[in-house]
Amino acid sequence: MATIEIDLNGINAVYRPYLRDSHRYQLFFGGSSSGKSSFLATRAVLDALSGRNLLIVRKVQRTLHASCWNEVLKAMRRLRAQGLFKVSRSDLTMTVRRTGAQIMFAGLDDAEKIKSITPLNGALTDVWIEEATECEFEDLKQLDKRLRGPSRFEKRVTLSFNPTWREHWICQEFFDGWAEPGERVPDGADVVCVPGRSYSDPRVTILRTTYRDNAFLTEDDRRALEEETSDYYRTVYTLGQWGTHGDAVFTNWRAVSLRETPPPEDAEEFYGLDFGFARDPCACVRCRLDRTDRRIYVTGEFYETGLVIWQLAERLKAFAGRAAVTCDSADPRCIAELRALGIRAVPARKGPDSVLHGIQWLQGYQILVDTACADMIRELSAYAWKEGSPPQPRPGDDHLIDALRYALESEQTCRPARLRRKREVGL
Ligand SMILES: Nc1ncnc2c1ncn2[C@@H]1O[C@H](COP(=O)(O)OP(=O)(O)O)[C@@H](O)[C@H]1O
Ligand SMILES: [Mg+2]
Repeated sequence: MATIEIDLNGINAVYRPYLRDSHRYQLFFGGSSSGKSSFLATRAVLDALSGRNLLIVRKVQRTLHASCWNEVLKAMRRLRAQGLFKVSRSDLTMTVRRTGAQIMFAGLDDAEKIKSITPLNGALTDVWIEEATECEFEDLKQLDKRLRGPSRFEKRVTLSFNPTWREHWICQEFFDGWAEPGERVPDGADVVCVPGRSYSDPRVTILRTTYRDNAFLTEDDRRALEEETSDYYRTVYTLGQWGTHGDAVFTNWRAVSLRETPPPEDAEEFYGLDFGFARDPCACVRCRLDRTDRRIYVTGEFYETGLVIWQLAERLKAFAGRAAVTCDSADPRCIAELRALGIRAVPARKGPDSVLHGIQWLQGYQILVDTACADMIRELSAYAWKEGSPPQPRPGDDHLIDALRYALESEQTCRPARLRRKREVGL
């Protein structure tokens, strides 16, 4: 039997006790850059070498390569185990040469693949859902069912995520026993709880980590997290705590599966685009408007940096077809170039106060965002008011929100009296 030597110093200390944990549900959550993904990728490689068959999923298939797939390859290299695996990028599998044990990858948007996925040998023993807050409870239930069949290993479902909102189903489903520092620790002979840090009962184990737990972080990353000024980002990404609405601009939105709650047939479709290139992304949104029930359905997005104009035109052709796309009008040349390339790009009018007016208008609707639109969900979560008067949203991570305002600009004809600012209405 081949053995590989593991240098435990290459694994952050806080995660080491979880290398062999066998709880059915394992939740690794907390701030960004806390080493969650790196650890779980490392564990996946070691688990496959020990004979387990793993399925690693994210909500959207196209995000797999840039995230978990690369993480696992990096972990393999750190462990000097590349030679032990046959890696097939085309069918997204990594197979242990000697035993046939596999690490498989899939997007939850590829339902057929998820349904049919079966390892070469034996049963699937593990599912790791990366960025699990992008998923729905129903996704978890379906994946849970994939863990069938006899195996000498305990079956496990691992979730890793940043704690986006206290109202999230993951918080409701798994965090009953969780205690923050100073809160009462749940009693029970088989419950182990370290407030603010970890929780275990016979079914579930939870670990919270932050950037402080990651010994491999660069000084720049550390500083960026420590200097975060947005309350929401600081809570969620620096401190790793469940987000609350605080000074959020939009509280009138929800992430839902639009497959399950589709827009009505007659809801008109709109497209909006915010230009960007190096630092800022090109952000494009597709939405449908239900005027009767005053609902906006955000049905699709793309969000990419580094697109030159002809690449953007290609992406728009695939995304919007022949539909009109209302664009940021700050750079008329981009619009002219898109038109020359066959896109029906139209400039947004952006009158005075158009940002506040657009926000006010959007606040009058219920906004349902498809769970696949992860960037829009992130932006809406973090979009907050700046201190001071007149009211102004904090600029920065608002590209898709701007695109949404442009998309629906033609609808924003009347000018309601006042912006609803949460403090003012006593929320
Ligand atoms: N065990 C490790 N060995 C080397 N680098 C690591 C390790 N764990 C984390 N890192 C570094 O820290 C960064 C952030 O870790 P990551 O796992 O992506 O955090 P999270 O998933 O919690 O956001 C990684 O990009 C990597 O550079
Ligand atoms: Mg991660």
